[in-house]
Amino acid sequence: MRLGLVLLLSALLLSACFPKSAIPPGPLSPEQIARAQSRIAGVTEDSLEQGRKLFIAQCGRCHDHPDINAIPMTSWPTILPSMVARARLYSSGQSMLMEFIDAVHE
Ligand code: HEC
Repeated sequence: MRLGLVLLLSALLLSACFPKSAIPPGPLSPEQIARAQSRIAGVTEDSLEQGRKLFIAQCGRCHDHPDINAIPMTSWPTILPSMVARARLYSSGQSMLMEFIDAVHE
């Protein structure tokens, strides 16, 4: 009984820090690409697609793929570097991921 309660509380605590999940975004629309290119210097269709592939491959390994829009855009620059470090990615991966997140964020 007591152990059950401890397990239940730990499960609740653990799930509280995991991100809200969502199906990862599909290929970007021409509008999303154009919007990103008008706001972020040096972004290409190819770099955005690489960011999307990194997101799909890396960001669903420890938890489900996070719902990008559930995190305010202002919080992503703080959260992403710690997740990139956990995923053991390089900084070029981090900037492609950041640009991809920025491009699809509503
Ligand atoms: C090696 C495991 C691991 C990988 C890989 C990983 N995460 Fe996480 N993530 C965690 C853990 C554990 C938490 C729970 C909160 C904490 O401990 O910081 C978390 C929490 C989060 C949160 C919620 C943070 C908050 O403060 O609300 C977001 C968003 C997130 N991860 C995004 C990502 C993204 C994007 C990637 C891909 C770059 C990623 N994660 C890859 C382990 C991982």
